[in-house]
Amino acid sequence: MQKTFKRILVTAALPYANGHIHLGHLAGCYIPADIYVRYQRLKRHDVLFISGSDEHGVAITISAEKEKTSPQTIVDKYHEANKAAFARFGIQFDNYSRTSLPVHHETSKEFFLDLLNKGFLNAKEEEQFYDAEAKMFLPDRYVEGTCPNCRYDKARGDQCDNCGKYYDQLELKNPKSLISGKTPVVKKTKHWFFKLGDFQKKLEQYVAGHSDDWKDNVLQQTRSWLKEGLQERAVTRDLSWGIPVPVEGAEGKVIYVWFDAVLGYISSTKEWALRIGQPEKWKEYWCDQGTRYIAFLGKDNIVFHTIVFPAELMAKGGYILPDNVPANEFLNLEGGKFSKSRNNAIYVKDILERYPADILRYTLATNLPETKDSDFYWKDFQAKNNNELADIYGNFVNRTITFAAKNFGNSVPHRGVLNDRDKELIGYINSAPQQIGNLIEQFRFRDATMEMMNLARAANKYFNDSEPWKTFKSNPDQCATTLNICLNIVRSLSIVFLPVVPFSSEKVWKMLNETPTVGKELWENAGELKLPSGHTLGQSEILFTKIEDSVIEQELQQLGHASDGNTATGAEQTTYTPLKPQITYDDFAKVDLRVAKILVAEAVPKSKKLIKLQIDLGFEKRQIVAGIAEKVMPDQLIGKTIIVVANLAPAKLMGVESQGMLLATAGDGENFALLTLSKDVQQGIGIK
Ligand code: 2FM
Ligand code: ZN
Repeated sequence: MQKTFKRILVTAALPYANGHIHLGHLAGCYIPADIYVRYQRLKRHDVLFISGSDEHGVAITISAEKEKTSPQTIVDKYHEANKAAFARFGIQFDNYSRTSLPVHHETSKEFFLDLLNKGFLNAKEEEQFYDAEAKMFLPDRYVEGTCPNCRYDKARGDQCDNCGKYYDQLELKNPKSLISGKTPVVKKTKHWFFKLGDFQKKLEQYVAGHSDDWKDNVLQQTRSWLKEGLQERAVTRDLSWGIPVPVEGAEGKVIYVWFDAVLGYISSTKEWALRIGQPEKWKEYWCDQGTRYIAFLGKDNIVFHTIVFPAELMAKGGYILPDNVPANEFLNLEGGKFSKSRNNAIYVKDILERYPADILRYTLATNLPETKDSDFYWKDFQAKNNNELADIYGNFVNRTITFAAKNFGNSVPHRGVLNDRDKELIGYINSAPQQIGNLIEQFRFRDATMEMMNLARAANKYFNDSEPWKTFKSNPDQCATTLNICLNIVRSLSIVFLPVVPFSSEKVWKMLNETPTVGKELWENAGELKLPSGHTLGQSEILFTKIEDSVIEQELQQLGHASDGNTATGAEQTTYTPLKPQITYDDFAKVDLRVAKILVAEAVPKSKKLIKLQIDLGFEKRQIVAGIAEKVMPDQLIGKTIIVVANLAPAKLMGVESQGMLLATAGDGENFALLTLSKDVQQGIGIK
């Protein structure tokens, strides 16, 4: 039976501040965590979302050496960059801290000394690899060699990236120093070891208590460690960067990064408590049995959160333990591993320059590596955006709001007698939030996201089947009822979709002229028809814009994955043969080119060639007629951002007024394309 909790603490792994956040990080940890937190906030639960930068360890010092700068410069740069990238991506942490802050150093030292005083840390001399040329010990990644477990030849000193095995560095075969490239010697040095074995029994009980609710991948890794028997592990290193070991005679040694990083969750919570002016409040989240603690992370971090961190908390005493650790597997890119060096990575800061966060959030949410590794494919990204977000969710919202604006004075019409179709859809919407919520509670975010889209799909079908454009004349009462229900479902969708595509929900609320605030227990009433008849609506705007094939082709080319398809021009032209006489710059400058958005597109009756478009230029709406009906379906044009000649003298084509001209390629079939922009900009902007 599920226990009831007073509050929820959610942590997301602290990424190393030595590189930019990429899509792999998001899919592994931050998207699921953010969906979970946003859902809990909609349920009005007391939830605190904590993360920050992991700024210590060899990962940082090696990056500093590579970039020929100091570790401090590295962490300052990447902390700020990653904090900003998360915010732009809509990851709503309550606090994003850094482990270099004094509050964190104090917390870590307090734990270290407490464990030492209680006899859980054991100081002893041990043999370590030493670079005689560089005159330094080689902790962790400073030494590379062949994995004793799987024979991978680029295994690090502490862990193999290939098979995930952790080992004593002396077990590494063919070790090489990363500093000099030489084979290291073995030399004795003093370190402090955490006696994990003292917690074997307690940890076994803890893990056994979660055999029903933890994911298989998490249980498997944890059990395999427990089965091997927990050994003592060094929690100090010979390094100058990090938290100095707070013991006399330990000069030149720092606390091991993994010992302090997990404590970063606690110090980040302390920082938050100080910031809100309630310095003791962090204890409610960490020391009260009424808190449910969920730790989100990627698969390479599992045992640190199911064994090492719980053992630290048990040793210290008075702290709660993670109730769940829903770790994800890895996200690959176009069939290969994310790799900075092989130009096979997509960074959040870059991709947000080109696409709205919501498309990525949705695409990744439907494809999370929840049970096994998954892949990000650009073509899938395009398909999810075009065929699902734009064609289903976006289309339903826009056609509903546009229809109400046109036919019901931009307000919610009354709801009359319900027919069977109405009742069926209302039944579905009534039960959907609960059903989707259950999936989120079980950390099944992929399924939850698919159910959100299924709801939009059903709503779209309902609109089609109800044919309000016909009943408007034949049965106005039925038409009003249909639209009342559709508008209410637009509101419902904006709430159930919020954890995944929050920026779009805000847009929908504007269109509905509603400002639901989190705090009204929104999730619980998301399935109810809450919009009153007579409620005035806002202005319709396109929710999701389609992504052209050419844009995706460009992305693939940048990754070095360009498809071998036809060239864009078809005919291979090797010399320039002018299509028009030469012009001067002044000739060209006479053309007033503007950015516009297509709102409506329909075939001109009795014409094979012409399509009539209503476009939005920002400062005004206009009608233009284009001779492209043989090349493209009107439906495919709606929502596109295009370039138009705005100062072309008005003309009539087949009796229909045209106030401008759109720009498109002169080709047919595959070679037909509208001129669009690499990203959305304000409508009406000029082009030069
Ligand atoms: O793998 C990483 O990027 C680590 N910095 C994660 C640390 S999680 C926690 F301990 F903070
Ligand atoms: Zn290995």
